[in-house]
Amino acid sequence: MAARDSILVTGGAGFVGSHFAVAAHAAGSRVVILDDLSAGARPTLPPGIELVVGDIGDRELVHRIVREHGVTAVAHFAGLIQVGESVREPAKYFERNVVRSLALLDALRGDVGTFLFSSTAAVYGMPLATPIPETAPRAPINPYGSTKLAIELALEAYGGAYGLRWGALRYFNAAGAQPDGSLRENHEPETHLIPLVIDAALGRRPPLTIFGTDYPTPDGTCVRDYIHVVDLAAAHLAALDVLDREPSLGAINLGTARGYSVREVVETASRVLGREVPCSLGVRRPGDPAVLVASTERAAEVLGWRAQRSDLATIVEDAARSRR
Ligand code: UFG
Repeated sequence: MAARDSILVTGGAGFVGSHFAVAAHAAGSRVVILDDLSAGARPTLPPGIELVVGDIGDRELVHRIVREHGVTAVAHFAGLIQVGESVREPAKYFERNVVRSLALLDALRGDVGTFLFSSTAAVYGMPLATPIPETAPRAPINPYGSTKLAIELALEAYGGAYGLRWGALRYFNAAGAQPDGSLRENHEPETHLIPLVIDAALGRRPPLTIFGTDYPTPDGTCVRDYIHVVDLAAAHLAALDVLDREPSLGAINLGTARGYSVREVVETASRVLGREVPCSLGVRRPGDPAVLVASTERAAEVLGWRAQRSDLATIVEDAARSRR
């Protein structure tokens, strides 16, 4: 059995999870999604992908899915993702992201040997240098990042003690959408820059507020490493293949090694869309590091993966098509 044969995708109704589910299905895997739909609407999925509405912390349910589908690997995307909310409501984040993830891991123990975890650049906190290598200190500065780090630490321990084959993929700024427009980024509320920029340009939302223009960056706005969600999906498939041969991947950054400032995103979107993006200048958003750019060397070396679709104009084009 290969890890890719039959994959349980938690959070597969969400943004990154749904793109992975579709990619894995297209690549020939059997795919079953477990999602509580708490983050929004049900995506339109191709026939053949089953969606079970339920809780990742429900051990009975997880057991049943694993048994009925002969699950060979779990890709764990389910979780809360808003940094600001995590500061206001940390208990909710630790419960949803840590307690329920540990219950999921417990339910899988002994039955499913391969586990891919959606981690985040937020585990680095305020990085000391960029591009950020995976060996950089893990020092999250918000509860969201702490909850993701907690699960990374659990996986390190479980790998050794229980023989779990695992990888923690640290996403930088996930963006874009399925090029045919069939899936989209659909957070409620939406807080991410690229969908907000597009919606502001299309007149569907108020003007964008640029959070801070006094950062130590070339144009004073924050720099981020935007990675196309289709590239993220491909990296997960590559990771599952490597886990057939290797006991653990450890942590791997998924980014492009190229950063764009908020102003560059606004300029690119206005060029791609042929419309002005209405903007106002605002104060810094608490907890935003000035620059987050991934070192991509480890991903290339271990996974043989590099981003293919992540130039900013393509990301904006694909995201815009999915929002029209
Ligand atoms: N920004 C604005 N105005 C907005 C929204 C965002 O100026 O209305 C700026 C932010 O200040 C930041 C940049 O656009 O500088 C990107 O912001 P996002 O909210 O799109 O993304 P973040 O970089 O804050 O966070 C993302 C994920 C997190 C993850 C983090 C780690 O949402 O889950 O990347 O890289 F932890």
